[in-house]
Amino acid sequence: MIRALTPGTFDPITEGHLDVISRAAQLVDEIIVAVAVSDKKKPLFSLEERCELVRQATAHLPNVRVEPFDGLLVDFARKMDAEILIKGLRAITDFEYEFQMTALNYQLDPGLETIFIMSPPQYMYLSSSIVREIASMHGELEPFVPACVREALEKKFAE
Ligand code: PNS
Repeated sequence: MIRALTPGTFDPITEGHLDVISRAAQLVDEIIVAVAVSDKKKPLFSLEERCELVRQATAHLPNVRVEPFDGLLVDFARKMDAEILIKGLRAITDFEYEFQMTALNYQLDPGLETIFIMSPPQYMYLSSSIVREIASMHGELEPFVPACVREALEKKFAE
């Protein structure tokens, strides 16, 4: 039984995240999407809202479940009995940050392996922050996020 975590803030989940999660779900027995509290980032959506949107967006993937977490990712991985982290890697700008996190996570727990899945070209420059910006300006969200997220964003920015 191989269980992997796909961690992130998911504020909100995008088609790019979904691509990584669904490809990861084909590689291992179970994926836990680990939704970080990430208080410092002052997320637009609450933790509960982010988890619920990830749940709805991944409902068609039978071996995917969603769990919130706070604290160190390595501690959460141990608690969940997960031996792999699977992350998406986009354009070059991601490298420095991801290298740093991978190196530190490896030092904190050498038994936890990190695997990267390269983003396909259409999602190479997609991010939650860009999606939030487009939504705040009432732009077209259709290619970037699943329908449930589009509705949630439209509601958020209609307030
Ligand atoms: O989607 P994000 O915000 O880029 O995801 C970053 C995340 C949540 C994966 C990262 O910040 C994280 O692992 N946070 C948990 C705290 C932690 O373990 N920090 C040390 C990492 S070296």
